[in-house]
Amino acid sequence: MSNPVETTRTPDPRLADSAFLKAARGEQVPHTPVWYMRQAGRSLPEYLALREGVGMLESCMRADLITEITLQPVRRYGVDAAVFFSDIVLPLKAVGVDLDIKPGVGPVVASPVRTLADVAAIPDLTPEHVPFITEAVGALAGELGGTPLIGFAGAPFTVASYLVEGGPSKEHAKTKAMMFGAPDVWDALMRKIGGIAAAFLAVQVRAGASAVQLFDSWAGALTPADYAEHVMPHSARVLAEAGELGVPRIHFGVGTSNLLGLMGEAGADVVGVDWRTPLESALAVVGDRGVQGNLDPTLVFAPTDVMTARAAEIIEAGRAARGHIFNLGHGVIPSTDPDQLKALTEFVQGYPLG
Ligand code: CP3
Repeated sequence: MSNPVETTRTPDPRLADSAFLKAARGEQVPHTPVWYMRQAGRSLPEYLALREGVGMLESCMRADLITEITLQPVRRYGVDAAVFFSDIVLPLKAVGVDLDIKPGVGPVVASPVRTLADVAAIPDLTPEHVPFITEAVGALAGELGGTPLIGFAGAPFTVASYLVEGGPSKEHAKTKAMMFGAPDVWDALMRKIGGIAAAFLAVQVRAGASAVQLFDSWAGALTPADYAEHVMPHSARVLAEAGELGVPRIHFGVGTSNLLGLMGEAGADVVGVDWRTPLESALAVVGDRGVQGNLDPTLVFAPTDVMTARAAEIIEAGRAARGHIFNLGHGVIPSTDPDQLKALTEFVQGYPLG
């Protein structure tokens, strides 16, 4: 974060007061900032209406839809940050990888990657591949005013899993078989995807995103030693490149209790914590970094007072952190009632820190 490069856009002066950005930098906040992973899309009726008859990837390539869908949860909930509407596999699609996002399934890749030649066939990402991203982020930066936009990318391991398995996987067996058994192919693939992720983040930041989140959703499948040897250096390179753009970096994964220290060391300003790990335990290992999280996403189905009582415990635990950004411990569940997220947002923002 030390050497901000010139961006094409002058940041809105109101961003200086953003509770989200202050928390991400470890500064004093007026209230605990809150946003939700997967707040855009999924549960909102206005999203479902807009998406009718439009494929997921198509909606990620239309600047007008990206802009509107990103704004919907900000209007509805009044959250402290917007998250860019896209997907972790969108950059692969943009460079020409034959893939689709199947409703209820997730990303599906037509020809899974197995060899060095398969890796070499994937082009690097340039801004020319994603003009709709530059256009949408620019429009959003104007519309959002003092609300920061979080850009994001999938981390190399999680994206590699979709490319190698050909679709969603529980065990990540083929992915790990490549990691353990074909280190040259693995290294080339991780470098390729890491380069694409870094370029994708750079496009978003240069166009006006104020922070980035690297999603390594499936890293929890790894032992700390394997993560450190085969994955962390590649994520670290992505985070280092994002750091050179001068924006705070959040690094998130699921089931990562035993990886949180390493995920911080990889170059995060804020470590995202899923709901299984108490924030107190996370704080003990992330060092002098902020934390983000971590209400169990199913608590929105409990009575509102039960949900907010848990939220209060998390806010209290977060006070010991260098900075705390409130979030769910993973993405919003599609059947979530928007009114519960609205109540949760108001509760977190109104919780007295004094
Ligand atoms: O708030 C947001 O939703 C921002 C946009 C966003 C999407 N995907 C849109 C999306 C973000 C940040 C993601 C990240 C993403 N995509 C991750 C990491 C986050 C996580 O949940 O761990 C992963 C692993 C993916 C891959 C992916 N894409 C999955 C597993 C799915 C779900 C498949 C399903 O339908 O159950 C998708 C599809 C997807 N990405 C949807 C949305 C809104 C749903 C598709 C639809 O609405 O038709």
